[in-house]
Amino acid sequence: MHSNIHPTARPFIFIAVAGFLSLCAGALAQTAPETEDEELAVPFALPKSGPFTPADINVENDQAITNWFRSAHANAAAEAFSHWDDDGEIRAACATCHSGEGFRDFHGLDGTPPGIDGPINTGGVVDCGTCHNAGLAEITEITFPSGIVHPVTGVEASCLTCHQGRSAGGNVVEATEGLAVDEPNADLRFINPHYATAAATWLGGYGRAGYHYSGQEYSGRFFHARPVASCNSCHEPHTLEVQFEPCLTCHVADSPEDIRIARQSYDGSGNTSVGIRSDINANAERLMDMIVAYTNDVVGAPVIYDGTRHPYFFADANGDGAIDMADGSPVPYGAWTPRSLRTAFNWKLVTADPGSYAHNPKYTLELLYDAIRDLSGPLGIDMEDLGLLR
Ligand code: HEC
Ligand code: HEC
Ligand code: HEC
Ligand code: HEC
Ligand code: HEC
Repeated sequence: MHSNIHPTARPFIFIAVAGFLSLCAGALAQTAPETEDEELAVPFALPKSGPFTPADINVENDQAITNWFRSAHANAAAEAFSHWDDDGEIRAACATCHSGEGFRDFHGLDGTPPGIDGPINTGGVVDCGTCHNAGLAEITEITFPSGIVHPVTGVEASCLTCHQGRSAGGNVVEATEGLAVDEPNADLRFINPHYATAAATWLGGYGRAGYHYSGQEYSGRFFHARPVASCNSCHEPHTLEVQFEPCLTCHVADSPEDIRIARQSYDGSGNTSVGIRSDINANAERLMDMIVAYTNDVVGAPVIYDGTRHPYFFADANGDGAIDMADGSPVPYGAWTPRSLRTAFNWKLVTADPGSYAHNPKYTLELLYDAIRDLSGPLGIDMEDLGLLR
């Protein structure tokens, strides 16, 4: 859409950035900051790590820089980048995706062998050198949490490294193997797929991100259509926003959320005048209701979901509708059964990707349907009555 110049072939950009950023910083702080400390006083945070060379700016790139600067990738104050500030460094298990410096270390783009081998500084963001790095061209495959190894070319390696989540259905299988399916087990803990798992959704059944029920087939990668077959063909790589106009060559809709091709209803509503996202959201809501009902009626140990705090599922032993507290802290849910754990995993995976309807609507609908069906048995709900489609 933009230039014909491949991002991995533009190392000179780093030089431009550092200069431009100090200019911004100078303008906003009223005085031109010459030292690192003064830069820190700027109202927005500048990346402290990454291959920045303080040099004069070549204004040619200022649009890309401005766009990036306003994006989530540059937001150093976000929880995703500031979470480790009190620790003084970012743990190896987290650094790959939470700082450009960690990303380069992980892939061996910093001159050290692949793998995180040094302490990673806090204060980093997804800086220019994460995607504009000559070494990216040499990365030919990315391993996902399920173990699947996916071939990549160019900058795709970056998106797929960080937006793949941290666990997969296979982890749920391991944790629950051999356990009675409806018996609570105090050793079971909620397994969190992690956040912004777009690439995992996108690869679908082939990527094995979800909990797969035996005997079921799952749709593979969402190939969609040629012009929209990669992350950056839909997301402008600096603003990260989805460009809607190109969708209209093939779709008739007012917004991405309104897009629908399916002529049948998946959520039992019969309404096919709304976007496919509506079916996905309805089934996700139904699934959550059923998880709660199952913990109440079948397990006898009610759960409360609170999306604002880790680990999201909390205990309500007396069933009064309020999360139990112990020593001033909410009590994590401790009565998981294999059935509640696997259905909650699929629910969380699907809802951890706000773009699942565009990344892989089919796989998303399948995971939701199978989890709903899983719970319908013990809850005595007739799937036919719900009128859902898989
Ligand atoms: C495979 C890449 C990856 C790894 C490894 C990873 N994360 Fe993340 N994490 C992400 C992405 C991507 C997001 C951004 C989600 C968003 O806010 O859109 C995120 C978001 C977060 C958030 C913010 C959640 C919120 O509600 O805003 C926290 C906290 C977090 N991660 C903690 C961790 C910790 C702790 C570790 C290591 C134990 C870790 N992450 C490892 C990719 C990763
Ligand atoms: C998340 C990955 C990512 C990050 C971070 C990133 N870029 Fe890019 N950049 C790309 C991709 C992908 C392209 C190719 C766009 C295309 O061809 O459509 C690109 C293209 C460019 C271009 C070519 C002109 C254009 O806008 O298409 C410039 C200049 C550029 N980037 C500069 C920067 C600078 C400077 C930074 C840091 C402030 C930065 N980029 C950060 C991925 C990234
Ligand atoms: C080094 C890890 C890393 C890489 C590489 C990376 N991202 Fe991200 N991405 C993140 C994190 C972390 C966040 C959440 C940032 C925040 O909460 O401010 C995020 C946020 C996003 C968002 C959400 C924007 C929003 O407004 O909430 C989109 C879309 C996105 N990334 C797309 C991409 C694409 C496309 C690529 C590849 C060109 C890519 N990312 C590469 C880590 C990464
Ligand atoms: C067919 C177009 C398309 C493709 C291809 C695509 N996305 Fe998206 N993506 C969307 C839409 C539409 C949304 C939801 C609207 C939004 O959040 O901007 C979205 C949302 C996201 C979000 C969540 C943004 C938020 O608001 O939190 C992330 C992260 C993301 N995509 C990353 C990726 C990555 C990584 C890839 C490649 C594996 C990818 N996307 C491929 C269209 C696409
Ligand atoms: C070149 C044509 C083309 C373009 C451009 C295109 N799509 Fe599509 N889209 C399709 C086709 C074909 C399907 C059906 C694919 C399938 O079922 O395998 C589809 C399916 C979808 C679906 C699922 C609809 C349903 O009812 O299952 C969504 C959502 C979607 N596209 C979103 C987008 C978004 C968002 C964009 C723009 C960023 C976009 N598409 C651009 C051709 C296109």
